[in-house]
Amino acid sequence: MQIQQIILTHTPQGVPVLSDFALGHAHLPGPQSGEVLVRVYALSMDPYLRSAMAGKHLSASIHPGDLVRGEGLVEVIESHDLRMVVGEKWVAPCGWRTHAVLDAQSIPQCRRVDPQINPISLALGGLGMPGLTAWAGFNILSQAQPHQTWVVSAASGAVGATVGQLARIAGCRVIGIAGGSEKCEWVTRIAGFNDCIDYKNTPLTTALKQLCPKGIDVYFDNVGGEVLHAAIENLALHARVILCGLMSQYNGASPSQLNAGSLIRARATVRGLVVYDHWQHMQQMTKELGAYYRAGQLHFREEIQHGLNQVPAAFCRLMRGENQGKSVVLLDN
Ligand SMILES: NC(=O)c1ccc[n+]([C@@H]2O[C@H](COP(=O)([O-])OP(=O)(O)OC[C@H]3O[C@@H](n4cnc5c(N)ncnc54)[C@H](OP(=O)(O)O)[C@@H]3O)[C@@H](O)[C@H]2O)c1
Repeated sequence: MQIQQIILTHTPQGVPVLSDFALGHAHLPGPQSGEVLVRVYALSMDPYLRSAMAGKHLSASIHPGDLVRGEGLVEVIESHDLRMVVGEKWVAPCGWRTHAVLDAQSIPQCRRVDPQINPISLALGGLGMPGLTAWAGFNILSQAQPHQTWVVSAASGAVGATVGQLARIAGCRVIGIAGGSEKCEWVTRIAGFNDCIDYKNTPLTTALKQLCPKGIDVYFDNVGGEVLHAAIENLALHARVILCGLMSQYNGASPSQLNAGSLIRARATVRGLVVYDHWQHMQQMTKELGAYYRAGQLHFREEIQHGLNQVPAAFCRLMRGENQGKSVVLLDN
C-alpha cells in the first residue's frame, strides 16, 4: 500500500529546523506471517529522538535518509500474530508514518493500551513512557519522605510535572523551575507545586536560596547545564540528585561540569535514571497514576497538533522548549 512518512534529511545542527525533515510517500509491503499491519493514530514527540539523531542515544541512531523512529498509538488493521487483534489500540515503535508493519522484533516492544485511559493520548504521556519515568524516579530512586523539599526542572513538562505532583501528593514541599510566567503559573495553579521559578527571568541561584533556605533534599533534573549547576550549589545534607534528562545539551551544547565539591559537602547521592530499567512497572504505574488522575489529584497537560505534516514543526517546537506540556500529534488519517 502507499503510505506517507517523514524522513530525516539532515542531521540537525543545533536546534532542529523544518528542512531537516521531508514528508513523502512510500510503498509499504503487506504483512507476512508473524507480522501486523497498523494504522498510526497519534505520534509522541520525545526529546530522546534528538539524541538519536545525533547518534548519542542508547537506542539506535537515526541517520539522514532514515524514517524517523518514535512511538505512537496504533490501531491493528490486519494481524498475523495471535498477540495483536484487529481493532485493538497499542503503543508501538511505529515511526513517523501513517501505517506500519510490525515484525518479530518490534511486536515485543508494543504494549496494549489500557481501555480505561481517557483521553487515549495520555498513553503516550502521563500514563505512558514519561509517566513511568516520573513514577520510577519518585518510587524507586528518590526515597521521598513527607515534608522534604523537592526541586524539579522542566516542571511543566510531561516528566517534570508528573514527578513533582507525585512528591506533592506524598506531602513534600515542591518547587518547580520552568521557562516563562505562563508555564510557572500552570505549575503552581494547576499542578499544585508550592512555587515555581521562572529561570529565564529570575536569577536562579538566588531564588533557590530564598525558597529553599534549608537546602534541597531531592533535585530531579531534566535539563543539565546551568540549572543543574545552580541546584547542586543549594543541596541539603544527604540530598539526592536524580539525573533524568539533558534538555540543555541535546541541541549540541557542551556537557556541564558537576561541582564535585558541592556534592561531597552535601554527602549527596546522585542517581542516573533510565526508564527502560523499570518497564516491568508500566501496568502498576498506569493503575496508580490513573487513579490519581481520575480523582483529580494529578493533572496532565497536553499540547495536541493535527496531521503528519505538522510532526516536524511539533518536534522542532519541543526542542526549542516552546511546548506547553506533552506534545502529541494526532494523524487524523
Ligand atoms: N532518563 C529517561 O529514561 C527519560 C525518559 C523520558 C524522558 N527523559 C528526559 O526527561 C526530560 C523531559 O522530557 P519530557 O518528554 O517531559 O519533555 P518536556 O519537559 O515536556 O519538554 C522539554 C522541556 O525542557 C525544557 N528545557 C530546558 N532547557 C531547555 C533547552 N535548552 N532547550 C529546550 N528546552 C529546554 C523546556 O521547558 P522550560 O521552558 O520550562 O525550560 C521544554 O519545554 C528530557 O530531558 C527527556 O530527555 C528521560
